[in-house]
Amino acid sequence: MPVKTFTARAHTNIALIKYWGKKNQDLILPMNNSLSLTLDHFYTDTEVSFDQTLKQDSFYLNHEKQDTAKITRFMDLVRAKAHLNSFARINSINHVPTMAGLASSASAYAALALAASKAAGLELSRPDLSRLARRGSGSASRSIYGGFVEWQQGHDDQSSYAIPIEEDLNWDLCMIVVVIDKAKKKISSRVGMQLVIETSPFYPAWIKQAEQDLSAIKKAIKERDFKKMGTIAEENAMKMHALNMSASPHFSYFEPASIEAMQLVELLRSEGIYCYYTLDAGPNVKILCSDKDSSRILTRLRTRFAKNQLLLAHSGPGVRLIDKK
Ligand code: ADP
Ligand code: DP6
Ligand code: CO
Repeated sequence: MPVKTFTARAHTNIALIKYWGKKNQDLILPMNNSLSLTLDHFYTDTEVSFDQTLKQDSFYLNHEKQDTAKITRFMDLVRAKAHLNSFARINSINHVPTMAGLASSASAYAALALAASKAAGLELSRPDLSRLARRGSGSASRSIYGGFVEWQQGHDDQSSYAIPIEEDLNWDLCMIVVVIDKAKKKISSRVGMQLVIETSPFYPAWIKQAEQDLSAIKKAIKERDFKKMGTIAEENAMKMHALNMSASPHFSYFEPASIEAMQLVELLRSEGIYCYYTLDAGPNVKILCSDKDSSRILTRLRTRFAKNQLLLAHSGPGVRLIDKK
């Protein structure tokens, strides 16, 4: 029987209200709802085919052979759903730095969920794709959709999945990404958030705050209140990073240049140029602004950062199949 190959493309997403902590580590159920913006600039292409001649899964990332322990656990879920027992060939290309706090796990597992389920002969709905992607990486549940997306925490496998808030934004929003370090982080998101849950005395306050931030940002988005949306996103990110500093042992993803970029944003704001920052689990700073201000902001950032450290992103689309190149 000829082997069928499917290739999927998924974009990364940046959370404006962060997911930071799990109530169930096996099912990847989060402690709070989160909300993100899918980005056009960063994405993953993943190709999957099942092959009865394989003795184990084969996984190449950016043309380099990888360990298969984590991906095989995910592929086992797909095999169980499809009643399949053959292994798969998985080839993936990240058009985003891997494990650098630019959400490669989000685009990776969203693309893998679609490509692997199709290759296994499954036709999953988007909510089912979101549930499946979630099992690989929580943030991947949101990359099934474009634009603004909310991951509803739920209480079990069935009830925890993302929903689109607005897929096609009719809003001149953009995100400038200041790439401070593309290297792999020392503490993965998975390990960092678990350490926080187990040791930060501030975690209960985070849960309460995240809920309030989420409803406030949804209102700001609906009302197209950019300043309110940016303020809530920036403050929510800082609360998450404060948790890391309050863990034991304490840790931080910030580097000196991250703080310089944040201070520059604050200076621009004091001059009346409205822009706001957010950081995920990594040192790279993402600046939310209006398209009309982006060139002024970029000009100012160039006084401190090299041209190739500054990238411009807009709202991106949800996961889809693409033709194999
Ligand atoms: P990031 O900030 O990039 O999301 P994480 O701390 O979430 O970093 O870790 C990324 C995880 O995603 C790692 O386990 C890494 O191996 C996995 N990953 C990244 N890219 C891919 C890919 N294209 N296919 C499968 N797994 C991937
Ligand atoms: C800071 O989804 O990468 O980017 O579920 O353990 O794979 P796992 O973690 P991951 O965590 C993302 C954390 C974050 C915030 C967010 O994207 O909501
Ligand atoms: Co991640």
